[in-house]
Amino acid sequence: MKSKSIGNSAVNLCNVMQHQHSNLVGNVHGGEIMKMMDNTAGLVAYKHSHASRAVTARVSEIEFLQPIHIGNLVTSKGRLIYTGNSSMEIKVEVWVEDIRNNQPGTKAATAYFTMVALNNDGKPIKVPEIEIYNDEEQLLYQEGKQRYESRNRNK
Ligand SMILES: CC(C)(COP(=O)(O)OP(=O)(O)OC[C@H]1O[C@@H](n2cnc3c(N)ncnc32)[C@H](O)[C@@H]1OP(=O)(O)O)[C@@H](O)C(=O)NCCC(=O)NCCS
Repeated sequence: MKSKSIGNSAVNLCNVMQHQHSNLVGNVHGGEIMKMMDNTAGLVAYKHSHASRAVTARVSEIEFLQPIHIGNLVTSKGRLIYTGNSSMEIKVEVWVEDIRNNQPGTKAATAYFTMVALNNDGKPIKVPEIEIYNDEEQLLYQEGKQRYESRNRNK
């Protein structure tokens, strides 16, 4: 199976936050952001594996760093950082821009998603390995590998 670059499967998903995403005072629900992050991770997993399905097995270290409001442009950025046999760890970062005041975007949330590639019978299947091109990718890969090995040790 041919290995693939991280850039090959990277995904940026954008949405403008509206009333249906928020509470009565205009703050966006964390669940709306988590759904967007999950969709992002799913798309990355699909682009990398082209499996029939990729399911979310784990979400870890999710952090909300600042509130998000109605009218904000939200971009959920996902990239693959580690692959096991059938599992893929994807780092998702959410960036927020207030398009009315022309300020640069700021990071609003981060998380690591573990997605598992499945065949038509729902069985885990092997995914392509990833190609590492720079020091940052190497560092993220090593961190992903440590989390994967530590989970397997503690099973
Ligand atoms: C994820 C799932 C397919 C794993 O099935 P399983 O029978 O435990 O399969 P395995 O034990 O062979 O594990 C398959 C891979 O998943 C990984 N995995 C399983 N459970 C995991 C967990 N809780 N966290 C992280 N990785 C996990 C394993 O490490 C393994 O990775 P590898 O192949 O890279 O070594 C199964 O638990 C499942 O269907 N969960 C529900 C998923 C779901 O519905 N998500 C929400 C909606 S998308």
